Amino acid sequence: MTKFTWYGHATHGVETDGHKLLIDPFFTGNPIASTSADAVDANFILISHGHGDHVGDTVAIAGRTGAKVISNFEIVNWLSTQGVEKVHPQHIGGGFTHPFGYLKLTQALHGSALPDGSYGGNPAGFLLTTNDGKKIYMAQDTGLFGDMQLIGDEGIDLAVLPIGDNFTMGPDDALRAVKLLRPKVVIPIHYNTWELIAQNPISWADKVQAETEAKVVVLAAGESFEF
Ligand code: NI
Ligand code: MN
Repeated sequence: MTKFTWYGHATHGVETDGHKLLIDPFFTGNPIASTSADAVDANFILISHGHGDHVGDTVAIAGRTGAKVISNFEIVNWLSTQGVEKVHPQHIGGGFTHPFGYLKLTQALHGSALPDGSYGGNPAGFLLTTNDGKKIYMAQDTGLFGDMQLIGDEGIDLAVLPIGDNFTMGPDDALRAVKLLRPKVVIPIHYNTWELIAQNPISWADKVQAETEAKVVVLAAGESFEF
């Protein structure tokens, strides 16, 4: 059993095979966060790119929990200079078997500058194969790209896609992404954090379910989906 929890924005928890993963932990300053950096637990922290709403509270949470941080080479080097002790660098197209499963970094069309202006490498998404064989694709911040078809060829159980528009895919491109990815279930993220990315996830869900085979699960911040 794998449990996916949406904490608001692009911040998620994945509990699988006894491990707790935290993805893009943005709690401090996140107006829709359902919990806080002080309260959340993690064994591993995954960072998709260098922007402040994704690096977020990583340094504090890694310091308190001792979690290992996984991200691209540039970001984990930068986090090491901030005092993060346990890190694992990967890069796009590269996978590694961690205790929680096989994690591959995928391409993302976005930026990745770190909060102090340091170079943050290239932005990424995550393709996780759990130890019991489930595939979760977390696109994180990206525009639509045609190679989502290739990611879809792997057989996606759960796709986590931004729908907020302005900084990432909006609802129309996210619908096209579902058609390329062909996931069993899709969960929308990166919307309604601020007015700039306000969207109606229910009308998006209706459209996706009318035009594809995917089931859309719309979570409120703090809610979980188990599969
Ligand atoms: Ni971003
Ligand atoms: Mn973002």
